[in-house]
Amino acid sequence: MSGKNWDRVPIDAQSVDAPLSQSAIFLVVTVAADRSALAKVCSVLGELDDLVKNVGFRDLGGRLSCIAGMGRGLWDRLDAGKRPAELKPFAPIKGAVHSAPSTPGDLLFHIRAERPDMCFEFERILLDRLGAGVTVVDEVTGFRYFDARDLLGFVDGTANPTGLDLPASALVGDEDADFAGGSYVVVQKYLHDMQAWARIPTHEQEAIIGRTKIDNIEIDDDDAPRKSHKSLATIEDADGNEHDILRDNMPFGRPGQNEFGTYFIGYSRYLWVIEKMLQRMYVGDPPGAYDRLLDVSTPQTGTTFFAPTRPMLQTLVQGAPESTTP
Ligand code: HEM
Repeated sequence: MSGKNWDRVPIDAQSVDAPLSQSAIFLVVTVAADRSALAKVCSVLGELDDLVKNVGFRDLGGRLSCIAGMGRGLWDRLDAGKRPAELKPFAPIKGAVHSAPSTPGDLLFHIRAERPDMCFEFERILLDRLGAGVTVVDEVTGFRYFDARDLLGFVDGTANPTGLDLPASALVGDEDADFAGGSYVVVQKYLHDMQAWARIPTHEQEAIIGRTKIDNIEIDDDDAPRKSHKSLATIEDADGNEHDILRDNMPFGRPGQNEFGTYFIGYSRYLWVIEKMLQRMYVGDPPGAYDRLLDVSTPQTGTTFFAPTRPMLQTLVQGAPESTTP
């Protein structure tokens, strides 16, 4: 885990538990097939911590942080010998009504800060360093919307794990000791149909989400005809243990283009937990009773990554194949 001296020193790269922020950039890139592109990426990942320091120290109160996640394809190219037990590409999901696509991505950079200019500056320098060997496939700038609401008007993030539950839910443990401390990361960029949402009366919206809209109180939907988003996203294993994930969703949008979205990002100790949430949302429980949030929210992307710890990342990139070009 990272040190918590966040007002004195910049935040270590790969700190999954870095504070939630007012601003974030979600940057997904692919890496060209040649060895020199891979070598360049490895050298930049090796200096990620310094890059965070260079920008972060300019305003410690800005709390700049960055987490890099790697897709399965890139991981295999690194020739590390081992890989996190569950790491695989995002599996597309086909429900009867709604589907979730799987889209490309070798690297995810989750950049957070209190100030949008710090996220911007970090991304600018990062992309400059990465150079022509990477192609940006998705870039989203998110913002905190009043009291952590999504653009549908509901407070988003309340049920996130806290304290000791945070690492227990979000970070790999002894079950995969070589990768302990790392985290599976799943992202999906959603666009909302705001006109359709506005036509749904507030009490129905509340039944869809599973919380009241104004004051964010959980609604017991045990006897409801359809499960809410909150209940479909609640996962229990065979022994009745609940499995949480850490979410840091951000709204984004361009009202002038009628673009209103939620960038979903979930960190989990176990990839299967997020996969099960998605199955329940898209296929439904019971099958057919899918998440009605999806009637007004359409995923444009879907990609899975693994965010190694800082030392793990160093070892990985140092052992990667050498470049043959100067
Ligand atoms: C359009 C995209 C989404 C929106 C707007 C959204 C919004 C919300 C809101 C408002 C809540 C209730 C407050 C809270 O506890 O945070 C919630 C809960 C939750 N969501 Fe989502 N969500 C989205 C997508 C997803 C996806 C794709 C997943 C998982 C794959 C997910 C997993 C969860 C979980 C685990 C909870 C907490 C359930 C609980 O234990 O109470 N959400 N979401």
